[in-house]
Amino acid sequence: MYTQEEEKNFFEQAKHLMQHDAGSAEDTIGQLRAVILYSDWKYYVKSDPVLSDFDYDTLFKKLKHLEAANPELVTEDSPTQRVAKGISERFPTVSHLVPMLSLDNTYNADDLADWDRKCRELAGTDKIEYCVEPKYDGASISLVYENDQLHRGATRGDGVMGEDVTANIRQIRAIPLSATLREKGIRQIEIRGEIVIHKNVFEAFNKQRVSEGLSPLANPRNAASGTLRILDPNEVKKRGLNAILYHISDYTLEEGRSRPEGLNTHYGSLKWLYSLGFPTPAMEMKVFGHIDEVIKYCHDFEALRDTLPFEVDGLVVKVNDFALQDKMGMTSHHPRWAVAYKFKARQATSKLRKVEYQVGRTGAITPVAKIDPVHIGGVTVSSISLFNEDVVREKDVRIGDTVLVERAGDVIPYIVKPLTELRTGEEEVIEFPKHCPACNSQLEKQQDEAAWRCVNISCPVQVVERMIHFASKDAMDIRSMGNANVQKFYELGLLTDIPSIYNIDWKKVKSLEGFGEKSVSNLKQAIEASKKQPLNRLIFGLGIRYVGETTGKTLASAVGDIRELYDWNVERLLALEDVGPKVATAVADFFAKPENREMIQKLADAGVNLINVHKGQTAAAGELAGKTFLFTGTLSQFKRSDAESMVEAKGGSILGSVSSKLNYLVVGADAGSKLEKAKKLGSVNILTEQEFQELIKD
Ligand code: IVH
Repeated sequence: MYTQEEEKNFFEQAKHLMQHDAGSAEDTIGQLRAVILYSDWKYYVKSDPVLSDFDYDTLFKKLKHLEAANPELVTEDSPTQRVAKGISERFPTVSHLVPMLSLDNTYNADDLADWDRKCRELAGTDKIEYCVEPKYDGASISLVYENDQLHRGATRGDGVMGEDVTANIRQIRAIPLSATLREKGIRQIEIRGEIVIHKNVFEAFNKQRVSEGLSPLANPRNAASGTLRILDPNEVKKRGLNAILYHISDYTLEEGRSRPEGLNTHYGSLKWLYSLGFPTPAMEMKVFGHIDEVIKYCHDFEALRDTLPFEVDGLVVKVNDFALQDKMGMTSHHPRWAVAYKFKARQATSKLRKVEYQVGRTGAITPVAKIDPVHIGGVTVSSISLFNEDVVREKDVRIGDTVLVERAGDVIPYIVKPLTELRTGEEEVIEFPKHCPACNSQLEKQQDEAAWRCVNISCPVQVVERMIHFASKDAMDIRSMGNANVQKFYELGLLTDIPSIYNIDWKKVKSLEGFGEKSVSNLKQAIEASKKQPLNRLIFGLGIRYVGETTGKTLASAVGDIRELYDWNVERLLALEDVGPKVATAVADFFAKPENREMIQKLADAGVNLINVHKGQTAAAGELAGKTFLFTGTLSQFKRSDAESMVEAKGGSILGSVSSKLNYLVVGADAGSKLEKAKKLGSVNILTEQEFQELIKD
C-alpha cells in the first residue's frame, strides 16, 4: 500500500508536524490527514504502530483545531469524521448496534481541568459527578444479549463493523452465557468491555512457549487480542482469558416495561450489571463531585498500577449521570462525556550496542541484547532477552539500531522493534554463534524448534544451572544454595553434578573464606532437610524438559516410587492428565538414559526420598485437603463462586459461618461481622484476596 520510501517520509513528516506547520492551513491539514491515515493503517491493519499514543493524539488534536478554525476545509473523508478502517477477513463481519467509539486522551492535571471546564459548559451545570475506573489494556469487545442469552461477541474492528468471535468469547469463563435480563425488562442489550489476561497467566503462558521453543508473545494486550482471533476455541479455553465490562451502549426494553432502576447513572448501571453476574470494575470504580478529587485520585492511582493483577494504561473518567451524557453527546471519534487519563508511557528508545549469548539449563542459547541503560516505569533497563534466533530475524534488529523498548507492568521488558527509519547504514546484522560460548561444542537445532542448543551434557554452564534448578525454592528448596554458592563450589571441585550436593567435603568448605560455623551448619541442615522433600519436587528438580511443577505433581502422583517410571512408555505417559506427546517423549527419553538412572541411584544411596506415599491421589486434590475456607465482603479479583470452586478443586471445603472449625477467612471490601468474629476467635487465618491468590498458587 505504501512504499518504504513513503513510509519513511511519513514518519519524518509526522515528527515535523508535531512542532511546525506546513505553510498554509490547507497544506497543513492535507499533510496531517495523510500521516494520520498512514498511522491508522499501520496500527489497525498492520498491527505495527509507528507513533506513540501521545504523538498521534497531538497530531489528531492539531487537525481538529485547524478544521474547527477553517470549517470550509472539512471533508467527508477526514480522519476526524470517521473511525479508522481495517478488519481481518478470518471471521464473519458484523455491524455493532452502536458504533464503538474511542476515547479522547489526557495526560496531566491541566488537561483534565480543561476537559472538566468543557463538560460543565456542555452540560450547562457546575454540578457534575464523575465516575473514575481503570483503563484496561486489552482487546475491546462488544457483547449482545438477547432473550437472556449471550447472542454475539464481536471485536471492535473499525468501530462500525467488527469480527464475530462468539465461539471464542463463549470460552471466557468470566462472561456469563445467560443472564436474567427479561425479568428486569430488558429484551436486548449491548455491553462493551475489555478482554484481558492477568499478568501471572501471561507470564506462565510465555514461559511455557519459550520452553517449547516458541516465540513469546509481546505483552498481555497482544496476547488478549491475538487469542480472541484464534480459530480453535479449545485453544482459547486454555489461555485463561478474563473480561471486564464497563459500558452499556444500547438496550431495548420488553414491551410495556420501563427502564430498570439503576440505569440512570454509569455507576448504577455497572453495579446493576454486577448484580446480574457480569464482571464489571465494581470494586475499582469511584465517584467524585469535583475534578480536583478526580485529579488527586488519578495521581494516587498511578502509583498502584503495578499492584493490580492485570495491565492498565490509565484511568477513564466518565460523567456519571446518563441524562447529562445524552445532553453532551459525542463526536464521530469519541464521547464528549468521557476521557482517558493516560499513565506515563512505558516505552523508551535506546541504542543496541551488542548481543551476548546465554546458555540455559537445557542447553538452549538465548541471545541477550545489551542496550544503553534507559529508565522505564521506575526501573533501569540495560539487558533484554531476544529469546531466540527467529525473534532476532522476525524483528530484524541489528547492532547499532535505535530500538523501541517496552516494559508492560512488571512483565519483563522487550524490544518492540528497531526504528528502521533512523538507520545510517552502519548497523550490523546479528550473526548467531555456531559454537557454545561456554564449552565451544557445535550448536544444534532441531527442525521444529526455534532454539539453538548445546547438546554437551557436561557443558559447565548447564551442569551448574541444573544444580541451581535442583536446589531452587520450587524444587528441593535448599536455602543458601543459590547461584553464587553453586558456582563457587563447582569451580572449586566441591560440586560436580546433582548427587554431589549430598556428598560435599565439609572440611574444605569450612576452610573457605566467608564460611563460618553458622553458615556451614545452616547449609548442611538445608541439604539434609531436602532429602525428605515430596517426590513431586524431586521430579521437577531433575530438570526434565517440559516438566514444570504441575507435570511434576502429575508424574509423582502416578507412581509409588520414581523408579517405576523407568518402565513407562510414551503411550502410558500420554494417558496421564495434561501430558501431551512432547512431554511424554521427553519423560520417556529421560528415564531411559542409563546416566539418569545412575544419578537417581546415587540420590537413593544418599538417602533422598524417591517414594510417593500418596500414590493415586492427585496432588491438586490434596493440597488444601482438610482445610476450611469462608469468603466475606465484596471480592474484586474473582467471583465468589469461582474462588470457592478453586478451593474445592484443591481439596478444601467451604463453611457457611465463622466457627472454631474455620481455618481461613478471605476478606473482600466492606467485610463486617464475620471478620469481627474471626478476629475475636483468634484461631482463624485472615487473608486478603491477594494473599489468598498466593496461597492457591503455591
Ligand atoms: S469507555 C463510549 N471504559 O480504551 C465508551 N473504555 O482508548 C468508550 N477501555 O476503545 C469506552 N478501559 O477499548 C471505556 N473503563 C473503560 C475502558 C475503556 C479500557 C478501552 C476501550 C476504548 C479504548 C480507548
